[in-house]
Amino acid sequence: MKWPDHGGQPHKLSSDLQIESSGMLDFSANINPLGPPGWLLKKAEEALKNMSVYPDPEYPEAVRCVAESEGVGKEQVLITNGGAEAVYLAARLVSGGRALLIEPSFKEYSRACSHYNIRMEHVPYRPDFVFPYEETKKKLPEVDALFICRPHNPSGTVIPYETICRLAEETAQQNVRLFIDEAFIDFLPAEKKLTGLFQKYSHIVLLRSLTKIFSVPGLRCGYLLGGKSDTAFLKKEQMAWSVNAVSAALIPPMMQDEDFVRRTVSWLQQEIAWIESRLDPDRWHMSRTYTNFYLLSDRRMEDQEPLIHFLLKEGIAVRHTYNFSGIDGKAVRAAVRSRRENEQLMKALKKWEGRQ
Ligand SMILES: Cc1ncc(COP(=O)(O)O)c(C=O)c1O
Repeated sequence: MKWPDHGGQPHKLSSDLQIESSGMLDFSANINPLGPPGWLLKKAEEALKNMSVYPDPEYPEAVRCVAESEGVGKEQVLITNGGAEAVYLAARLVSGGRALLIEPSFKEYSRACSHYNIRMEHVPYRPDFVFPYEETKKKLPEVDALFICRPHNPSGTVIPYETICRLAEETAQQNVRLFIDEAFIDFLPAEKKLTGLFQKYSHIVLLRSLTKIFSVPGLRCGYLLGGKSDTAFLKKEQMAWSVNAVSAALIPPMMQDEDFVRRTVSWLQQEIAWIESRLDPDRWHMSRTYTNFYLLSDRRMEDQEPLIHFLLKEGIAVRHTYNFSGIDGKAVRAAVRSRRENEQLMKALKKWEGRQ
Protein backbone atom coordinates (compact mmCIF):
# COMPACT_ATOMS: atom_id res chain seq x y z
CA MET A 1 0.00 0.00 0.00
CA LYS A 2 1.32 3.46 -0.88
CA TRP A 3 0.62 5.73 2.10
CA PRO A 4 0.06 9.48 1.47
CA ASP A 5 2.39 11.92 3.28
CA HIS A 6 -0.39 13.99 4.86
CA GLY A 7 -3.94 13.66 6.09
CA GLY A 8 -6.84 15.03 4.04
CA GLN A 9 -6.13 12.87 0.97
CA PRO A 10 -8.66 10.04 1.27
CA HIS A 11 -8.82 9.64 -2.53
CA LYS A 12 -5.18 8.51 -2.52
CA LEU A 13 -5.94 5.70 -0.07
CA SER A 14 -9.19 4.63 -1.62
CA SER A 15 -7.87 4.52 -5.18
CA ASP A 16 -5.22 1.97 -4.10
CA LEU A 17 -7.99 -0.23 -2.74
CA GLN A 18 -10.30 0.58 -5.66
CA ILE A 19 -12.91 2.04 -3.32
CA GLU A 20 -15.14 4.91 -4.40
CA SER A 21 -13.90 8.02 -2.54
CA SER A 22 -16.77 10.43 -3.23
CA GLY A 23 -18.81 10.89 -0.09
CA MET A 24 -16.02 9.41 2.04
CA LEU A 25 -16.04 10.77 5.61
CA ASP A 26 -12.61 12.29 6.11
CA PHE A 27 -11.28 11.80 9.64
CA SER A 28 -7.69 12.05 8.40
CA ALA A 29 -7.44 15.87 8.33
CA ASN A 30 -7.67 17.67 11.66
CA ILE A 31 -9.78 20.68 10.75
CA ASN A 32 -12.40 22.28 13.00
CA PRO A 33 -15.83 21.04 11.80
CA LEU A 34 -17.55 24.15 13.26
CA GLY A 35 -15.75 26.38 10.79
CA PRO A 36 -15.20 28.39 8.81
CA PRO A 37 -17.32 30.97 10.66
CA GLY A 38 -20.28 32.35 8.68
CA TRP A 39 -18.79 35.83 8.16
CA LEU A 40 -15.60 34.56 6.53
CA LEU A 41 -16.71 33.96 2.94
CA LYS A 42 -18.30 37.40 2.63
CA LYS A 43 -15.16 39.08 3.95
CA ALA A 44 -13.04 37.01 1.56
CA GLU A 45 -15.19 38.14 -1.37
CA GLU A 46 -14.82 41.77 -0.28
CA ALA A 47 -11.04 41.35 -0.02
CA LEU A 48 -10.89 39.82 -3.51
CA LYS A 49 -12.09 43.12 -4.94
CA ASN A 50 -8.57 44.41 -4.20
CA MET A 51 -6.85 41.70 -6.18
CA SER A 52 -5.51 44.15 -8.75
CA VAL A 53 -3.45 45.91 -6.06
CA TYR A 54 -0.33 44.57 -4.35
CA PRO A 55 -0.86 44.05 -0.63
CA ASP A 56 1.39 46.08 1.69
CA PRO A 57 4.22 43.55 2.28
CA GLU A 58 4.43 44.71 5.91
CA TYR A 59 0.78 43.62 6.47
CA PRO A 60 0.39 46.42 9.07
CA GLU A 61 -3.23 45.72 10.04
CA ALA A 62 -2.69 41.98 10.43
CA VAL A 63 0.48 42.61 12.47
CA ARG A 64 -1.31 45.14 14.69
CA CYS A 65 -4.21 42.77 15.40
CA VAL A 66 -1.97 39.77 16.14
CA ALA A 67 0.25 41.86 18.44
CA GLU A 68 -2.78 43.25 20.27
CA SER A 69 -4.47 39.90 20.65
CA GLU A 70 -1.27 38.11 21.76
CA GLY A 71 -0.07 40.90 24.05
CA VAL A 72 3.32 41.23 22.33
CA GLY A 73 5.08 44.07 20.51
CA LYS A 74 4.44 44.57 16.78
CA GLU A 75 8.17 44.03 16.13
CA GLN A 76 7.75 40.49 17.46
CA VAL A 77 5.14 39.47 14.86
CA LEU A 78 5.73 38.04 11.39
CA ILE A 79 2.71 37.13 9.25
CA THR A 80 3.31 33.87 7.36
CA ASN A 81 1.85 31.73 4.62
CA GLY A 82 0.30 29.25 7.05
CA GLY A 83 2.01 27.56 10.00
CA ALA A 84 4.17 25.68 7.49
CA GLU A 85 6.02 28.81 6.41
CA ALA A 86 6.55 29.70 10.08
CA VAL A 87 8.21 26.28 10.57
CA TYR A 88 10.54 26.86 7.60
CA LEU A 89 11.42 30.39 8.71
CA ALA A 90 12.25 29.18 12.21
CA ALA A 91 14.59 26.56 10.73
CA ARG A 92 16.30 29.35 8.76
CA LEU A 93 17.53 30.76 12.08
CA VAL A 94 19.83 27.76 12.56
CA SER A 95 20.66 27.10 8.91
CA GLY A 96 23.64 24.74 8.57
CA GLY A 97 23.53 23.93 12.30
CA ARG A 98 22.01 21.14 14.35
CA ALA A 99 18.48 20.63 15.66
CA LEU A 100 16.82 18.27 18.09
CA LEU A 101 13.46 16.72 17.22
CA ILE A 102 11.31 14.81 19.70
CA GLU A 103 9.81 11.87 17.82
CA PRO A 104 7.20 11.21 16.64
CA SER A 105 6.55 14.71 15.40
CA PHE A 106 5.04 16.71 12.55
CA LYS A 107 6.91 15.78 9.35
CA GLU A 108 7.59 19.34 8.20
CA TYR A 109 10.23 19.92 10.92
CA SER A 110 12.56 17.39 9.35
CA ARG A 111 11.77 18.62 5.82
CA ALA A 112 12.54 22.21 6.87
CA CYS A 113 15.78 21.05 8.54
CA SER A 114 16.85 19.16 5.42
CA HIS A 115 16.04 22.22 3.31
CA TYR A 116 18.41 24.34 5.42
CA ASN A 117 21.07 21.69 5.70
CA ILE A 118 20.49 21.25 9.43
CA ARG A 119 21.75 18.03 11.00
CA MET A 120 19.04 16.37 13.04
CA GLU A 121 19.25 14.60 16.36
CA HIS A 122 16.25 12.65 17.64
CA VAL A 123 14.90 11.78 21.07
CA PRO A 124 11.83 9.53 21.38
CA TYR A 125 8.84 10.40 23.55
CA ARG A 126 8.38 8.22 26.62
CA PRO A 127 5.39 5.81 26.64
CA ASP A 128 2.00 7.53 26.41
CA PHE A 129 3.73 10.63 25.03
CA VAL A 130 5.25 11.79 28.28
CA PHE A 131 7.84 14.43 27.38
CA PRO A 132 11.39 12.99 27.75
CA TYR A 133 12.79 15.90 29.74
CA GLU A 134 16.04 14.36 31.03
CA GLU A 135 16.88 12.76 27.67
CA THR A 136 16.26 16.10 25.93
CA LYS A 137 18.36 18.03 28.43
CA LYS A 138 21.25 15.63 27.88
CA LYS A 139 21.20 16.30 24.11
CA LEU A 140 21.00 20.12 24.31
CA PRO A 141 24.78 20.73 24.35
CA GLU A 142 24.96 19.05 20.92
CA VAL A 143 22.37 21.24 19.13
CA ASP A 144 21.46 24.82 18.15
CA ALA A 145 17.67 24.44 18.25
CA LEU A 146 14.94 22.31 19.77
CA PHE A 147 11.61 21.76 17.98
CA ILE A 148 8.59 21.13 20.21
CA CYS A 149 5.04 20.46 19.05
CA ARG A 150 2.47 21.60 21.66
CA PRO A 151 -0.29 20.37 21.44
CA HIS A 152 1.46 17.38 19.98
CA ASN A 153 0.58 16.13 16.52
CA PRO A 154 -0.29 13.21 16.24
CA SER A 155 -1.26 12.36 19.86
CA GLY A 156 -3.06 15.57 20.92
CA THR A 157 -1.22 15.50 24.26
CA VAL A 158 0.13 18.71 25.83
CA ILE A 159 3.51 19.20 27.49
CA PRO A 160 2.80 20.79 30.90
CA TYR A 161 3.40 24.54 31.18
CA GLU A 162 5.92 23.99 33.99
CA THR A 163 7.98 21.69 31.75
CA ILE A 164 8.06 24.38 29.04
CA CYS A 165 9.28 26.91 31.63
CA ARG A 166 12.10 24.55 32.66
CA LEU A 167 12.97 23.97 28.99
CA ALA A 168 12.97 27.72 28.34
CA GLU A 169 15.50 28.24 31.13
CA GLU A 170 17.63 25.25 30.18
CA THR A 171 17.76 26.18 26.46
CA ALA A 172 18.55 29.82 27.34
CA GLN A 173 21.50 28.70 29.44
CA GLN A 174 22.76 26.37 26.72
CA ASN A 175 22.28 28.95 23.95
CA VAL A 176 19.80 26.71 22.11
CA ARG A 177 16.83 28.23 20.28
CA LEU A 178 13.44 26.90 21.37
CA PHE A 179 10.86 26.55 18.57
CA ILE A 180 7.37 25.75 19.84
CA ASP A 181 4.76 24.84 17.24
CA GLU A 182 1.37 25.87 18.63
CA ALA A 183 -0.69 25.17 15.48
CA PHE A 184 -3.47 23.65 17.63
CA ILE A 185 -3.19 25.83 20.75
CA ASP A 186 -6.53 27.60 20.22
CA PHE A 187 -8.42 24.35 20.80
CA LEU A 188 -7.23 24.23 24.43
CA PRO A 189 -9.31 25.57 27.30
CA ALA A 190 -7.75 28.37 29.39
CA GLU A 191 -4.19 27.38 28.58
CA LYS A 192 -1.52 29.65 30.07
CA LYS A 193 -0.06 31.61 27.16
CA LEU A 194 3.62 31.07 26.43
CA THR A 195 3.87 34.67 25.18
CA GLY A 196 4.52 35.64 28.81
CA LEU A 197 7.93 33.97 28.44
CA PHE A 198 9.02 36.75 26.05
CA GLN A 199 9.37 39.03 29.09
CA LYS A 200 12.35 36.98 30.18
CA TYR A 201 13.62 35.22 27.03
CA SER A 202 14.37 36.20 23.44
CA HIS A 203 15.46 32.78 22.14
CA ILE A 204 11.91 31.37 21.93
CA VAL A 205 9.93 31.31 18.67
CA LEU A 206 6.23 30.45 18.70
CA LEU A 207 4.80 29.06 15.45
CA ARG A 208 1.11 29.65 14.92
CA SER A 209 -1.52 28.67 12.40
CA LEU A 210 -5.08 29.88 11.85
CA THR A 211 -5.69 26.98 9.47
CA LYS A 212 -7.01 24.37 11.89
CA ILE A 213 -9.13 26.42 14.24
CA PHE A 214 -10.84 28.47 11.48
CA SER A 215 -11.04 25.60 8.94
CA VAL A 216 -9.16 27.45 6.23
CA PRO A 217 -6.38 25.17 4.93
CA GLY A 218 -6.79 26.63 1.45
CA LEU A 219 -6.09 30.19 2.61
CA ARG A 220 -2.66 29.67 4.24
CA CYS A 221 -2.83 31.98 7.28
CA GLY A 222 -0.26 31.80 10.03
CA TYR A 223 2.21 33.86 12.01
CA LEU A 224 5.38 33.64 14.01
CA LEU A 225 6.14 35.31 17.34
CA GLY A 226 9.72 35.76 18.41
CA GLY A 227 12.37 38.00 19.89
CA LYS A 228 12.76 41.36 18.13
CA SER A 229 16.07 40.64 16.42
CA ASP A 230 15.08 37.14 15.22
CA THR A 231 11.80 38.49 13.87
CA ALA A 232 13.55 41.37 12.06
CA PHE A 233 16.08 38.94 10.57
CA LEU A 234 13.35 36.59 9.36
CA LYS A 235 11.34 39.44 7.88
CA LYS A 236 14.31 40.14 5.63
CA GLU A 237 14.63 36.47 4.72
CA GLN A 238 10.94 35.97 3.98
CA MET A 239 9.84 36.21 0.38
CA ALA A 240 8.09 39.53 -0.35
CA TRP A 241 4.25 39.23 -0.53
CA SER A 242 4.44 35.72 0.84
CA VAL A 243 0.91 36.19 2.17
CA ASN A 244 -1.80 37.12 -0.33
CA ALA A 245 -4.18 40.06 0.11
CA VAL A 246 -7.23 37.91 0.94
CA SER A 247 -5.47 36.03 3.73
CA ALA A 248 -3.95 39.25 5.08
CA ALA A 249 -7.39 40.90 5.14
CA LEU A 250 -8.94 37.94 6.96
CA ILE A 251 -6.35 37.71 9.74
CA PRO A 252 -7.67 40.73 11.74
CA PRO A 253 -11.30 39.50 11.92
CA MET A 254 -10.08 35.99 12.76
CA MET A 255 -7.95 37.31 15.62
CA GLN A 256 -10.95 39.24 16.90
CA ASP A 257 -13.49 36.40 16.72
CA GLU A 258 -12.98 35.18 20.28
CA ASP A 259 -16.55 33.95 20.46
CA PHE A 260 -15.98 31.39 17.67
CA VAL A 261 -12.87 30.08 19.44
CA ARG A 262 -14.73 29.86 22.78
CA ARG A 263 -17.59 27.93 21.17
CA THR A 264 -15.11 25.55 19.55
CA VAL A 265 -13.32 24.88 22.85
CA SER A 266 -16.54 24.13 24.68
CA TRP A 267 -17.88 21.89 21.86
CA LEU A 268 -14.58 20.01 21.67
CA GLN A 269 -14.43 19.21 25.38
CA GLN A 270 -17.91 17.71 25.24
CA GLU A 271 -17.14 15.76 22.09
CA ILE A 272 -13.88 14.26 23.41
CA ALA A 273 -15.70 13.14 26.56
CA TRP A 274 -18.47 11.59 24.41
CA ILE A 275 -15.96 9.68 22.24
CA GLU A 276 -14.12 8.41 25.33
CA SER A 277 -17.42 7.20 26.77
CA ARG A 278 -18.12 5.17 23.59
CA LEU A 279 -14.81 3.32 23.42
CA ASP A 280 -14.33 0.18 25.49
CA PRO A 281 -10.95 0.82 27.21
CA ASP A 282 -10.22 -2.93 27.31
CA ARG A 283 -10.43 -3.03 23.54
CA TRP A 284 -9.25 0.42 22.44
CA HIS A 285 -6.35 2.60 23.40
CA MET A 286 -7.00 6.31 22.91
CA SER A 287 -4.29 8.92 23.45
CA ARG A 288 -4.89 11.51 26.23
CA THR A 289 -5.87 14.22 23.82
CA TYR A 290 -6.69 17.87 24.54
CA THR A 291 -7.24 18.81 20.95
CA ASN A 292 -9.29 17.93 17.88
CA PHE A 293 -7.66 14.58 17.04
CA TYR A 294 -6.48 11.49 18.86
CA LEU A 295 -4.53 8.31 18.31
CA LEU A 296 -6.52 5.13 18.42
CA SER A 297 -5.49 1.50 18.37
CA ASP A 298 -7.22 -1.83 18.65
CA ARG A 299 -5.32 -3.49 21.50
CA ARG A 300 -5.64 -6.87 19.77
CA MET A 301 -3.45 -5.81 16.86
CA GLU A 302 0.08 -4.53 16.59
CA ASP A 303 -0.27 -3.12 13.04
CA GLN A 304 -3.56 -1.28 12.45
CA GLU A 305 -3.58 -1.59 8.65
CA PRO A 306 -6.54 -4.05 8.57
CA LEU A 307 -8.58 -1.49 10.54
CA ILE A 308 -7.71 1.25 8.02
CA HIS A 309 -8.87 -0.99 5.15
CA PHE A 310 -12.05 -1.94 6.97
CA LEU A 311 -12.94 1.68 7.71
CA LEU A 312 -12.28 2.73 4.11
CA LYS A 313 -14.74 0.09 2.97
CA GLU A 314 -17.20 1.57 5.48
CA GLY A 315 -16.68 4.98 3.83
CA ILE A 316 -14.38 6.39 6.53
CA ALA A 317 -10.80 7.60 6.06
CA VAL A 318 -8.50 7.85 9.09
CA ARG A 319 -4.86 8.99 9.09
CA HIS A 320 -2.23 6.26 8.96
CA THR A 321 0.85 6.67 11.17
CA TYR A 322 3.48 4.89 9.07
CA ASN A 323 5.43 8.12 8.63
CA PHE A 324 5.37 8.99 12.34
CA SER A 325 8.59 7.55 13.69
CA GLY A 326 7.99 5.44 16.81
CA ILE A 327 4.31 4.79 16.01
CA ASP A 328 4.89 3.16 12.62
CA GLY A 329 1.33 2.01 12.02
CA LYS A 330 0.62 0.84 15.58
CA ALA A 331 -2.20 3.41 15.85
CA VAL A 332 -4.39 5.46 13.55
CA ARG A 333 -5.13 9.15 13.99
CA ALA A 334 -8.74 10.27 13.86
CA ALA A 335 -10.10 13.80 13.87
CA VAL A 336 -12.90 14.89 16.20
CA ARG A 337 -15.72 15.74 13.83
CA SER A 338 -19.41 16.57 14.18
CA ARG A 339 -21.51 14.38 16.50
CA ARG A 340 -23.28 12.76 13.56
CA GLU A 341 -19.95 11.88 11.94
CA ASN A 342 -18.37 10.73 15.21
CA GLU A 343 -21.40 8.47 15.67
CA GLN A 344 -20.73 6.94 12.27
CA LEU A 345 -17.12 6.26 13.21
CA MET A 346 -18.15 4.69 16.53
CA LYS A 347 -20.74 2.56 14.73
CA ALA A 348 -18.08 1.34 12.29
CA LEU A 349 -15.73 0.52 15.19
CA LYS A 350 -18.49 -1.52 16.87
CA LYS A 351 -18.98 -3.42 13.61
CA TRP A 352 -15.22 -4.03 13.48
CA GLU A 353 -15.25 -5.34 17.07
CA GLY A 354 -18.02 -7.80 16.16
CA ARG A 355 -16.07 -9.17 13.21
CA GLN A 356 -12.87 -9.97 15.08
C1 LIG B 1 1.66 20.52 14.07
C2 LIG B 1 1.44 21.29 12.82
N1 LIG B 1 2.09 22.45 12.64
C3 LIG B 1 1.92 23.19 11.54
C4 LIG B 1 1.06 22.78 10.54
C5 LIG B 1 0.94 23.61 9.30
O1 LIG B 1 -0.19 24.39 9.36
P1 LIG B 1 -0.66 25.24 8.09
O2 LIG B 1 -1.64 24.40 7.35
O3 LIG B 1 -1.24 26.48 8.66
O4 LIG B 1 0.55 25.51 7.27
C6 LIG B 1 0.35 21.59 10.67
C7 LIG B 1 -0.54 21.11 9.60
O5 LIG B 1 -0.94 19.97 9.54
C8 LIG B 1 0.54 20.83 11.84
O6 LIG B 1 -0.09 19.66 12.03
